[in-house]
Amino acid sequence: MSTSDAAQQQPSAASITPHSGKLGIMIPGMGAVATTFVAGVEAVRKGIAHPIGSLTQMGTVRLGKRTDGRSPKVTEFVPLATLDDLVFTGWDIFEDNMYDAATHAGVLDQRLLDQLKPFLSSVKPRAAVFDHNYVKKIDGPNVKKGKSKMDLAEQLRADIRDFRKTSGASRLVTMWCGSTESYIEATAAHQSVKAFEKALHESDEMIAPSMIYAYASLMEGVPFANGAPNLTVDLPVMLELSRKNDAPICGKDFKTGQTLMKTVLAPAFKARLLGLSGWYSTNILGNRDGEVLDDPGSFKTKEESKLGVLEHILQPALYPDLYGNIFHKVRINYYPPRGDNKEGWDNIDIFGWLGYPMQIKVDFLCRDSILAAPIVLDLVLFVDLAQRCSELKGIGIQEWLSFYFKSPMTAPGLYPEHDLFIQLMKLKNTLRHLKGEELITHLGLEYYD
Ligand SMILES: NC(=O)c1ccc[n+]([C@@H]2O[C@H](COP(=O)([O-])OP(=O)(O)OC[C@H]3O[C@@H](n4cnc5c(N)ncnc54)[C@H](O)[C@@H]3O)[C@@H](O)[C@H]2O)c1
Repeated sequence: MSTSDAAQQQPSAASITPHSGKLGIMIPGMGAVATTFVAGVEAVRKGIAHPIGSLTQMGTVRLGKRTDGRSPKVTEFVPLATLDDLVFTGWDIFEDNMYDAATHAGVLDQRLLDQLKPFLSSVKPRAAVFDHNYVKKIDGPNVKKGKSKMDLAEQLRADIRDFRKTSGASRLVTMWCGSTESYIEATAAHQSVKAFEKALHESDEMIAPSMIYAYASLMEGVPFANGAPNLTVDLPVMLELSRKNDAPICGKDFKTGQTLMKTVLAPAFKARLLGLSGWYSTNILGNRDGEVLDDPGSFKTKEESKLGVLEHILQPALYPDLYGNIFHKVRINYYPPRGDNKEGWDNIDIFGWLGYPMQIKVDFLCRDSILAAPIVLDLVLFVDLAQRCSELKGIGIQEWLSFYFKSPMTAPGLYPEHDLFIQLMKLKNTLRHLKGEELITHLGLEYYD
């Protein structure tokens, strides 16, 4: 029997509808991340910058044996929408168009923004569904009024239909880039579509604005990706709607700076059976996101998302001597002088052979939105692919997109994979599977036959 580092079973290819027409991207929250993404797409379209950090634009997928020399680009391998296909709209509580919002965010060089000004100025925010109780540090004038939360959901659905018509888009995706909302847990209102709709009519206070966007999108058959740590689609009601309407969901919380590093380093410690006694992570950042996270309610939502990572990677129940007693602390400090240029500091106390202690210090001087923008691009393209794919459109949660999230959604009861390289393998094997290519297992014995 021949052995292979590509698994033996060769699945048949899934049926994928071609991507004809435009893809409309709808973004609740036109702040730093959203404007850096949209400006970046336009800059790449104009040939004045490269889409660095984007797997869909720059990545490849190895196919078959290592000796086959087949590594097509992702864009050649699966039928993704092109950057030229993308059209945009959004919602925000502020009235700034994307040029003004990008200028305010201060992420991109003003000279670059000025080259993109006509395009960016044309993307204007629709009035938002907003509740100050959920985001305490900001307030703005561009907000919808309604008799009930159901009324607000109907207004969002009308916005979606309007954008579909006026943009001529053949498909739509909603990508949440709005602020982090206050921490809440699911209640009876979130357990089914029936209960949720009753709660919408009653304007139940446990329904956060992001959930109203998600409900409106899924009701319109539009996939929803969640870039914030909010509960939004992590709820039975949304899973039910997603599956019923073939509108994929994924989330949550973009994995950009510190957590990206954590999910690279922690698997390395576990691989080498090095122990961990403490991991202290602190951040200083001065953008609007940092200001919102200065509120304890919003911080708690972010903290929960950042803290779960180590537990799942290190599996203390399996390795009590190595990981049974870890002190893990995450802090976020609002420090205006830094703007979007965050500094993420990690002090890591590990121990090796015979328990001898060692320390690692990581000081990541990163740019938050520069790291987030390519993730947004990949997510909208992959989520659109999922909706055109017979095998993925009806399954609800797209766990294969865990690669992009701090707190990946999974089927109920299933623990998430946080290790970046397991996540990457899962993503690429999903693409291989969809195309009927052999999965890569890295066994590789056939090279020694
Ligand atoms: N690297 C990163 O930048 C990163 C990483 C992970 C997660 N995130 C999350 O992504 C989100 C966006 O980050 P950002 O840096 O762009 O923040 P930002 O403050 O610049 O932008 C958020 C925008 O959302 C708007 N908003 C808030 N509530 C809204 C609502 N209900 N409807 C419409 N608009 C609303 C705000 O007015 C603001 O313009 C945040 O939740 C953040 O925590 C960002």
